Amino acid sequence: AGPCDLYASGDTPCIAAHSTTRALYSAYTGNLYQVQRGSDSATTNITPLSAGGVANAAAQDAFCAGTTCLITIIYDQSGRGNHLTQAPPGGFSGPEANGYDHLASAIGAPITLNGQKAYGVFSSPGTGYRNNAASGTATGDEPEGMYAVLDGTHYNGGCCFDYGNAETSSHDTGNGHMEAIYFGDSTSWGSGAGSGPWIMADLENGLFSGVSAGNNAGDPSISYRFVTAAVKGEPNQWAIRGGNSASGGLSTFYSGVRPDVSGYNPMSKEGAIILGIGGDNSISAQGTFYEGVMTSGYPSDATENAVQANIVAAGYAVTSLTSGPALTVGSAISLRVTTPGYNTRYIAHTGTTVNTQVVTSANTTAIKEQASWTVRTGLGNSGCFSFESVDTPGSYIRHYNFVLLLNANDGSKQFGEDATFCPMAGLNGQGNSIRSWSYPTRFMRHYDNVLYAASNGGTDTFDATASFINDVSFVVSAGFA
Ligand code: AHR
Ligand code: AHR
Ligand code: AHR
Repeated sequence: AGPCDLYASGDTPCIAAHSTTRALYSAYTGNLYQVQRGSDSATTNITPLSAGGVANAAAQDAFCAGTTCLITIIYDQSGRGNHLTQAPPGGFSGPEANGYDHLASAIGAPITLNGQKAYGVFSSPGTGYRNNAASGTATGDEPEGMYAVLDGTHYNGGCCFDYGNAETSSHDTGNGHMEAIYFGDSTSWGSGAGSGPWIMADLENGLFSGVSAGNNAGDPSISYRFVTAAVKGEPNQWAIRGGNSASGGLSTFYSGVRPDVSGYNPMSKEGAIILGIGGDNSISAQGTFYEGVMTSGYPSDATENAVQANIVAAGYAVTSLTSGPALTVGSAISLRVTTPGYNTRYIAHTGTTVNTQVVTSANTTAIKEQASWTVRTGLGNSGCFSFESVDTPGSYIRHYNFVLLLNANDGSKQFGEDATFCPMAGLNGQGNSIRSWSYPTRFMRHYDNVLYAASNGGTDTFDATASFINDVSFVVSAGFA
């Protein structure tokens, strides 16, 4: 059985079922998600390898070979057509054209399920999916449940990495107009024990960790690599549950009456579905989603426990974040441009500016050191790398407003994430292309001989599609110094 077969057995059927990693019904053979590639804007649908099985990641890899791919649609497996697509502007506008949010990279969250590769949805700040015309979702004070499998190590304090029920207008229409899973370490509203991250319920104008609007010590920090998060609500009753998606059961972090704050009892749910954003299209949060569902009716703990056992049996595990020619931690490297007409240039720096410069053996030691980088374990994720300046130890290449800079490591989580890059086989067939860990749609790219974290066809000048594939491909060799 799949999770939605179990919910159906419990008389609380799925009315939406989303996953880029696997089928959530044992008989499901339909589309899981759609990807669009940068080279020609063509799209393809990814299906399970077999009924009820894991997504066909190899089909994605073949379709996206030598170019970039975005996840354009996360299909609803319930048959209701509650698909998730690029979120439109609301109370807040997204960073893409016409105020739409970013779409997620198709390669940001590779994992395996019982050894078979699949990809989750890695949501950087600015990324969001939504369906403002869903059918069968709870409205008003109607009962519902939901769960999601998330990356417990990918989060921030921005508003709001959510999955669940939200406003159909993409605007904040008042307390109780949402009921969604939140994951992260925001302390702007509620919080739990420790320093987070926490599973909370986004009920609009409040992230709730329990009965009170502020801190509720019963909601623990939870940061397993794979986290199962569950929220459910019915008249004057709601609950938060969570656990490790890779082993064990679910614990109940809150179960009881509605918050003692005006507007949340009864609820005024509207029935849209969001992923990665707040109800009003707040876009500051980050997180990773692998699978999730919403139900009709308030699921029993026993049903949710059976679903958790099914998730554990699916065998979520980590896999490599990198590919292509290998980099060795501790070694000094050079990175040579491969774009025709520029391929005697190397990634270098002039002060805090990261640029490309022509470097030869005849140059001074000073220039050679400016173009040499020490490979370090990724400051923000140990599965990727950071690049420390040879002539300015303690300073690393990081992105800031998507411009690459050489800055001193201030030890913050933000700096570490901004300075973490994941090499993969070069998109033009030469060397490596080096994507940002925290923004997997963005690659180290030279443009007018300056380095950026650029997306293929984004809104900035340096995102230009012309020459993108060559501009993001670099040959890695030994350092000059
Ligand atoms: O409830 C927290 C957030 O507040 C909601 O997600 C958003 O709509 C509002 O800004
Ligand atoms: O480069 C994009 C973002 O800009 C970085 O993550 C952040 O540090 C800065 O605001
Ligand atoms: O960085 C040099 C060139 O500048 C890039 O190849 C091109 O995309 C831009 O015009």
